[in-house]
Amino acid sequence: MSEAKVSCRNVWKLFGSDPEKFLAAHGGVPDTEAITAAGYIPAVRDATVDVQEGEILVLMGLSGSGKSTLVRCMSRLIEATAGEIDFDGQDLRAASERELVEIRRHKMGMVFQHFALFPHRTVLENVAFPLEVQGVDLADRNARALEIIDLVGLHGRGDYYPRELSGGQQQRVGIGRSLAVEPDVWFLDEPFSALDALIRREMQDEFLRLQSTLQKTIVFITHDFDEAIRLADRIAIMRDGVIDQLGTAEELITNPGSDYVAAFTKNVSRAKLLRVHTLMAPPSADAEGEVDGKVFVASVARKILSSPGTLRVVEDGEVVGSITAEQVTEALFEAE
Ligand SMILES: Nc1ncnc2c1ncn2[C@@H]1O[C@H](COP(=O)(O)OP(=O)(O)O)[C@@H](O)[C@H]1O
Ligand SMILES: [Mg+2]
Repeated sequence: MSEAKVSCRNVWKLFGSDPEKFLAAHGGVPDTEAITAAGYIPAVRDATVDVQEGEILVLMGLSGSGKSTLVRCMSRLIEATAGEIDFDGQDLRAASERELVEIRRHKMGMVFQHFALFPHRTVLENVAFPLEVQGVDLADRNARALEIIDLVGLHGRGDYYPRELSGGQQQRVGIGRSLAVEPDVWFLDEPFSALDALIRREMQDEFLRLQSTLQKTIVFITHDFDEAIRLADRIAIMRDGVIDQLGTAEELITNPGSDYVAAFTKNVSRAKLLRVHTLMAPPSADAEGEVDGKVFVASVARKILSSPGTLRVVEDGEVVGSITAEQVTEALFEAE
């Protein structure tokens, strides 16, 4: 297991008049009734989650479920009401103002759905801005910014102004600007939600391509389960401020812990997400033919469905189970 880069323990964020006092009066764990009766808004409730180094953790949930608030607590853009937040081994809530500035300047990158580019600065100047703040000299920061502009697919557009770019291109500038300081941890709050479907898919592909070379630790917010599936190593589903379930897409689909989670996963293509070994039965003596256990069912569905009998499931040269056409059809159409 790799190291946790960001670690949240029992984090609460209540909006209202005196949330610290209110939490203390309820032993730190008020129930919903008490919270509502006292007029507090429970944006985040008792959230515990580790973001592992190099992983993409996606936060999902309906609008108002607390995703942005949790990420703002993780980056201390807002102060949590209670709980522990470790950032890169450091107690973030105890960090001084000066330490926080340092952490933000060097270790955190942030992208929001509607973040402001500087309209009177060129693409190059926008991307180079965080380096300017760091005090990097002009030649060095421009050289770095040019590299980033290439990296985010805007080669040759350094001298453009934001108004001369499409929405998707502007978002690329924002992404580039957030990468300029080479952050360890990258927070992205619905960065593609305002883009239309086609551009959005393209941006997701680009994002994955970037991540395959950059290997950042990422917290990515979306309300779209398809986007979550494409990008996430793990998905945390939030509901009314609570992390309802945390797991891989496959785990959430095969084993939803609540109707709320099941509702999100209902319309996804199970064949593309479930692997053969998730559906298989124990090895069977009369199996003929074989399939790889690690591949997605979709890639071998034709073979399995056209086999009259049982197939061996093999991983790394060893028989690990068996599978039949019936098991596949059942699993794939279970959701209906
Ligand atoms: N500054 C604030 N003051 C009061 N309530 C807030 C504030 N920010 C967020 N909230 C409330 O907290 C809840 C969670 O909001 P948010 O984290 O923005 O959800 P999401 O990002 O999942 O849409 C919502 O009920 C929202 O209205
Ligand atoms: Mg939000």
